Amino acid sequence: MAGCILMAVILFSNFVSIVPYSVQLPEKAYYVANYSHHSLHSVPKDVPLQTTVLDLQQNYINILVISDFSSLPNLKVLNMSQNVLGELDCNVFSLNKELVYLDLSHNSLTIISNQCNEGLQHLDLSFNNFQSLSMCEKFENLIHLDFLGLGAEIVHRSDLRGLEHLMLITVVLELEKLSDYEPGSIQMLNTQMLRLVLPIKEMDPWIILSDALNASVSLEVSNINYTTTGIGPESFKHSRVSDMTMEKVTLTWSAMIGLFQAIWKSSVKSLTVKKVTLVGLIKREQFYYGTTSVQAVTVQNVTITKYLFSQDDVYIFFSEMNIQNLTLNHDSILYMLCPSKPSPFRHLNFAHNTLTDATFQDCHTLVRLESLILSWNKLTELSKVSFMVLNMPLLQHLDISHNSLQYEMGDECQWPGSVLSVNLAANDLTDSVFRCLPTTIKKLDLQRNQIGYISAEIVQLLALEELNLASNRLKDLPDCRPFKSLAMLNVAFNVLQSPSSEFLHSCKSVETIEADNNPFQCDCDIREFVYQEKQTSARLTKWPASYQCAYPETVKGTLLQDFRISELSCNRTLLIVLVFITVAVLALFLFCLCKYLDIPWYIKMLWQWTQTRHRNRIRSNRPQSLKQNFSFHAFISYSERDSSWVKECLLPNLEREDGSIQICRHERNFVAGKSIVENIVNCIDKSFKSIFVLSPNFIQSEWCHYELYFAHHKLFTENSNELILVLLEPIPQYLIPARYHKLKALMAQRTYLTWPKERGKQRLFWANLRAAITVNLPEADESGPFQESGERI
Ligand SMILES: *[C@@H]1O[C@H](CO)[C@@H](O)[C@H](O)[C@H]1NC(C)=O
Ligand SMILES: *[C@@H]1O[C@H](CO)[C@@H](O)[C@H](O)[C@H]1NC(C)=O
Repeated sequence: MAGCILMAVILFSNFVSIVPYSVQLPEKAYYVANYSHHSLHSVPKDVPLQTTVLDLQQNYINILVISDFSSLPNLKVLNMSQNVLGELDCNVFSLNKELVYLDLSHNSLTIISNQCNEGLQHLDLSFNNFQSLSMCEKFENLIHLDFLGLGAEIVHRSDLRGLEHLMLITVVLELEKLSDYEPGSIQMLNTQMLRLVLPIKEMDPWIILSDALNASVSLEVSNINYTTTGIGPESFKHSRVSDMTMEKVTLTWSAMIGLFQAIWKSSVKSLTVKKVTLVGLIKREQFYYGTTSVQAVTVQNVTITKYLFSQDDVYIFFSEMNIQNLTLNHDSILYMLCPSKPSPFRHLNFAHNTLTDATFQDCHTLVRLESLILSWNKLTELSKVSFMVLNMPLLQHLDISHNSLQYEMGDECQWPGSVLSVNLAANDLTDSVFRCLPTTIKKLDLQRNQIGYISAEIVQLLALEELNLASNRLKDLPDCRPFKSLAMLNVAFNVLQSPSSEFLHSCKSVETIEADNNPFQCDCDIREFVYQEKQTSARLTKWPASYQCAYPETVKGTLLQDFRISELSCNRTLLIVLVFITVAVLALFLFCLCKYLDIPWYIKMLWQWTQTRHRNRIRSNRPQSLKQNFSFHAFISYSERDSSWVKECLLPNLEREDGSIQICRHERNFVAGKSIVENIVNCIDKSFKSIFVLSPNFIQSEWCHYELYFAHHKLFTENSNELILVLLEPIPQYLIPARYHKLKALMAQRTYLTWPKERGKQRLFWANLRAAITVNLPEADESGPFQESGERI
């Protein structure tokens, strides 16, 4: 697919790291067109015009023509590595004035014609098919060049003369197919760093190597593949090299020792040997350490072909070294010997081996050791590790990550008092680990273990500043009380559901908390957590994007920051207060209702009304109970002084115009000629109910009392319930004369209707009263007119 274009500044940053000293251009200027691995046979025609980085590596392009790049005025970087170009005419780039980086390595180039762009900073022509380096004369004008990759079969001084004046930083000299080398050629190069690829076929490399040792400060040599005898300290006599790296080394053990012995007496300070294959027998070799400029030795990826040898013969060579840094990685080391006398080792790195807890037990000679890296080994017991390092009085940094370490509760642990940081990541440690830690540590890495809970009853790590507990099994934040100085806490990727506020408070002084990617339970407790974040901004790293609700299902995936829950459903006190207030308001409201609207009165009246209606219904179902023939619905007894109320209020409201309610009144219905008492009795008898309008006036009226007496009498003799008391005005008890005990008793026993002064209530009063006297009167002749009678006093 031809149009595959990536807007990738990232790719360029990658490129910068590969070529650290070269091209310095503003980042935004990059437009990357990536055509690598596209099986192309020629440069595509549709490369975007704005392209600045064109990646054509690993294709089958065999020829370049000027039209390939003429439309790309901005081209700065061209990678043509691993194609099949046979020749190059530098004129193809004549229109690419910006071109600074040109990688033509791993092609089949034999010829270069014409001068190349003056602006080039990086030019790689290594791993091609050049016969000689005669093309170098074309590069004389490349004064900006800092990287140059070359390769040829024949190397002569004269070919390199043209490069003498160039101030190069890195030169790659690939001599895989070398057939002829003129001594002194390499020294013609002026570079800080030389990467030398030695011939593959049998050939004594030491002439080339001793030239290389004098050519640069930093030397990388690969393909050291000889069981040579020619190495001696003389080879390094005039060396300038300080950093030396040897790669793809195949040697016998004794040749290797010989090489080291030579280097030991050279200018080399730092020696790295990578990808070593030891051939032949391994036996104890003499080595004179003496004084040396070597400070650091790194040996990586050693392979052994003959396995029958004494490990000690190898290990003693390293353990006795009088250097500061020793790194042995990926070397399958089983153990390491304790140096026989106080050792200058300050940094030991034995990562990626098979060391066990037995290493360095009772070792008292590592007195200068500051850091010990034993990650990716076979350590199992933390308590034993503590005794391993106990006699290293200056040890500050211990890395024992990626082992199978455990700690059995009760095992004794003793650490030197100097330890500042311990890396225990990726082990099998549980909660108990906190009982076996150096109390002096400032930095502790416990990520990827099995820690579930940290109680406050552990060793106090008062100096601890950084604690990494990522990828454990913590259900809650750790209790920070034992870590008084803690400033950074990482609890990401645990099973934290709701970080309890108690712990959150105990971790108050922690400046940064990483708690992302936990299965947060979004409920009330989480609010405190979110609140804390808002209070102490930027305390939680990766906030808010990496903090999401996992439970309940309904809010799964919601950012904690966006999760909302009402204050009420979380705050119990508030809830109680609110309920209390509501009840209080309601009570107050009811109180006001009662006080100002007299609700109880209405209720009482309604109750009476319903009772009456109920009674009346029963009665009308049993018409025979109306034995008497009534002529009136009610007889009204009242004091003369209340007559205005009776006439103006009571009667108009009770008597209907249709005459459905008939009232017997003494002024109207008393029959002349009969005695008053007779009239009263008659009237009471003929009335269904007797209404007494009670008031202080009533008490004072003698007649009224009679009427009451009769009615009451009737009540008792006929066991009827036809007395209605209407209290027009309140009657103080003391006003009722003693002889009126009947009235007193009645008023005490019977409920009476109180006349309400408020207009609003009067309707109900009337309704109640009407209901009490409503009854179907039989059709009777006696209901004929009564004569008006005389006035009563
Ligand atoms: C160019 O290609 C080679 C080989 O494929 C690769 O190693 C190198 O990193 C590439 N350079 C850039 C700048 O991409
Ligand atoms: C030795 O190792 C330490 C720690 O890794 C490092 O800082 C120092 O630069 C190394 N010294 C040499 C000479 O490489």
